[in-house]
Amino acid sequence: MSKIAVFVGSVRSDRNGIFVARWIETKLKERNHDVFFIDPMELQLPLLDRMYKEMRDPEPKYQKLHEMIKNSDGYIPVTPEYNHTTSAALKNTLDYCLDEYFFKPSAIISYSAGVFGGINAAQHLRQIFAELGAPSIPSSFQIPKVQEVFDKGGNLLDEEYNKRIKRFLDEFDWYVEAFKNQRVKGTPY
Ligand SMILES: Cc1cc2nc3c(=O)[nH]c(=O)nc-3n(C[C@H](O)[C@H](O)[C@H](O)COP(=O)(O)O)c2cc1C
Repeated sequence: MSKIAVFVGSVRSDRNGIFVARWIETKLKERNHDVFFIDPMELQLPLLDRMYKEMRDPEPKYQKLHEMIKNSDGYIPVTPEYNHTTSAALKNTLDYCLDEYFFKPSAIISYSAGVFGGINAAQHLRQIFAELGAPSIPSSFQIPKVQEVFDKGGNLLDEEYNKRIKRFLDEFDWYVEAFKNQRVKGTPY
């Protein structure tokens, strides 16, 4: 059992991403993980002024964000594709912290209205997570035509996804365990 942070990448009022993120949360809980569900809309995160470490007297929502990121063993960003990259909302959420991510793996899930499932956003996120010190696992998980994969109540319509996600999360779990075991021995900084 590990602690996994799931990042919701959209703050649009009609966001499809919330369905993807809630589905992933369920899948992680089925594997007995504790999930930190990081939703910038729920947290009402403004555009970044100060990073957490620069705040003198952080408001509770920033403390919560910091604790969730710091206490996680791994990260799953759920990103939409906006103009061939990730969303400003996700990047903004990630930027509040830095050291908190170090030496933990990430697994990127992307989705889009089009047929490529947000692969451009996923590729850019790999670079971002490398810089955050939370390298992404080799596989990424794409959801094309997301509006056809979940109904308006957030129910999964395509059972194939339950099979596909198992392999992806098996891979992620392996890296989470490997990094966790190595962190016990110490980290370079
Ligand atoms: C600003 C903006 C840019 C978009 N750019 C792309 C794009 O480059 N490729 C794509 O396949 N879909 C694009 N879309 C469609 C989104 O993939 C689709 O609206 C998706 O549901 C967005 O995620 P969300 O509903 O969680 O916000 C774009 C949507 C928006 C709002």
